Amino acid sequence: MKTVALGGSKIQASQIALGIMRMGNLAQAKCDQALEAALENEINFFDSADIYGRDPEIGRGSSEVHFGQALKDVGVDREKILIQSKGGIFADENDHLTRYEASKEHLLASVDGILKRLGIDYLDFFLIHRLDALVDPEAVAEAFDQLKQSGKVRHFGVSNCHPSQIELLQAASHEPLLVDQLQFGLGHTQMIDEGLNVNRAEADHTNGLMEYLRLHHMTLQTWSPFQYGTFAGTFIDHPDFPELNQELAKLAAKYQVSKNAIALAWILRHPVMPQVLIGTMNPSHLQDSVAGSEVTLTRQEWYDLYLAAGHKLP
Ligand SMILES: NC(=O)c1ccc[n+]([C@@H]2O[C@H](COP(=O)([O-])OP(=O)(O)OC[C@H]3O[C@@H](n4cnc5c(N)ncnc54)[C@H](OP(=O)(O)O)[C@@H]3O)[C@@H](O)[C@H]2O)c1
Repeated sequence: MKTVALGGSKIQASQIALGIMRMGNLAQAKCDQALEAALENEINFFDSADIYGRDPEIGRGSSEVHFGQALKDVGVDREKILIQSKGGIFADENDHLTRYEASKEHLLASVDGILKRLGIDYLDFFLIHRLDALVDPEAVAEAFDQLKQSGKVRHFGVSNCHPSQIELLQAASHEPLLVDQLQFGLGHTQMIDEGLNVNRAEADHTNGLMEYLRLHHMTLQTWSPFQYGTFAGTFIDHPDFPELNQELAKLAAKYQVSKNAIALAWILRHPVMPQVLIGTMNPSHLQDSVAGSEVTLTRQEWYDLYLAAGHKLP
């Protein structure tokens, strides 16, 4: 497994990381197996969020309870892995997600809840999950300072933020924002479409996000790499994506890996030097996927996959 230096720092994380969003309703033995499979495949980075999982017995945050138990069951050395979580989406007493909240109090309480559920005493990374429209950047900076000084969080970042939002937060904070976590993959190419379709109305606007991350040496963490829609399902072997699957199969045969691995190699080929968050809980899908770290697609293969995913070059 290749590694990536997060946000241009010295922290070396596996290029492919495991997200625990789908652990929430799993039997504990399956969670333990997923963690073991990740470690066996040289994954050293795990992503969570305070809202992941709604097990009927545990409630909101059950993914972190299950992952925390898995850390104990598997006997993981905490210092050998990197754990990240996110906060800033508010769930009310009926467990409805009713607002985004980046107040100092909410962020501090979020981290305390995360550490308790995971059964650990620090997070390597804490990210703002989605930016509160009513954010006070000074309050976020104060929360980050307090979390850093107390030793509860080592590094910070954001998720689903565009360049102006990053600038707004960074202008108030001494803590460098090292990562931005965004949906990007063959099913979500907006950050590429924009650059390839300048002056064309059909391009979605991300305000030059990809170029911004490169210029500022921030790590792009890509979520849901196999999904189409937000969480509609995977495009791998899906009958609605025949051309994409044909192209994935062709390259999988050439490189002697799975279609999952090629879909990840497509993301990893981008010079932004991303880190990919996969969410499989199936050890064999996980093993199939990590081979993507070893494949370097040619420029033409990268474009062929982009076109097969349903895009045109103007
Ligand atoms: N920042 C954000 O707003 C945000 C939002 C969403 C997610 N995330 C992060 O991103 C992580 C990954 O998200 P994700 O789970 O949606 O990613 P994903 O890896 O694209 O999707 C995983 C799903 O695809 C299935 N799958 C994978 N390969 C397959 C194959 N060959 N055939 C059939 N099914 C296959 C998996 O099923 P099996 O388990 O059966 O393999 C699982 O249900 C999350 O855990 C979370 O950490 C962040």
